[in-house]
Amino acid sequence: MILIIYAHPYPQHSHANKRMLDQASTLDSVEIRSLYQRYPDFNIDIAAEQAALSRADLIVWQHPMQWYSMPPLLKLWIDKVLSHGWAYGHEGTALRGKELLWAVTTGGSNHHFDIGAYPGFDVLAQPLQATALYCGLQWLEPFVMHDTFVSADETLEAGAQRFKQRLVDWQERQDG
Ligand SMILES: Cc1cc2nc3c(=O)[nH]c(=O)nc-3n(C[C@H](O)[C@H](O)[C@H](O)COP(=O)(O)O)c2cc1C
Repeated sequence: MILIIYAHPYPQHSHANKRMLDQASTLDSVEIRSLYQRYPDFNIDIAAEQAALSRADLIVWQHPMQWYSMPPLLKLWIDKVLSHGWAYGHEGTALRGKELLWAVTTGGSNHHFDIGAYPGFDVLAQPLQATALYCGLQWLEPFVMHDTFVSADETLEAGAQRFKQRLVDWQERQDG
């Protein structure tokens, strides 16, 4: 099962992420949890989130990049849900062996993230990657859709199709 943890502060204004979700939702065995719609008061149901994670084989953290990082509700979700004794620490093995895909959209172009002018993309991925590895998750090559400010609808749609294909490839690897 694929579980998409979706963190968009204004999902109704999304262009890129909305298309990605629309594509992902056409697949079987995909559960989408939209954190900002589920928890508008930031009062996260930790048990429900952990139960969803337990059902998943592939976990996707999907969000628009904000200030070179993640939206605050996703950070809170990580702080609360990936708890000691469950996700890490003594007997904290609930996530071990599952896979983690970071799926992020950015306003900036690929070149915007070149090391030297700005933090490189791999550097920006580090806190998420380290968090995943610390919990025993397998870190997959991230899915990135750049240039969302300037992309035409067709380009965003092509990016969303590329995201769907990434999930299909993962499902086919499980079946094969
Ligand atoms: C508060 C805020 C901070 C942002 N910070 C960044 C950033 O650091 N780097 C970047 O490339 N884009 C940044 N963006 C642009 C968003 O990543 C972009 O609007 C989003 O990926 C588009 O996806 P959507 O159509 O699903 O909203 C920021 C946008 C907002 C609202």
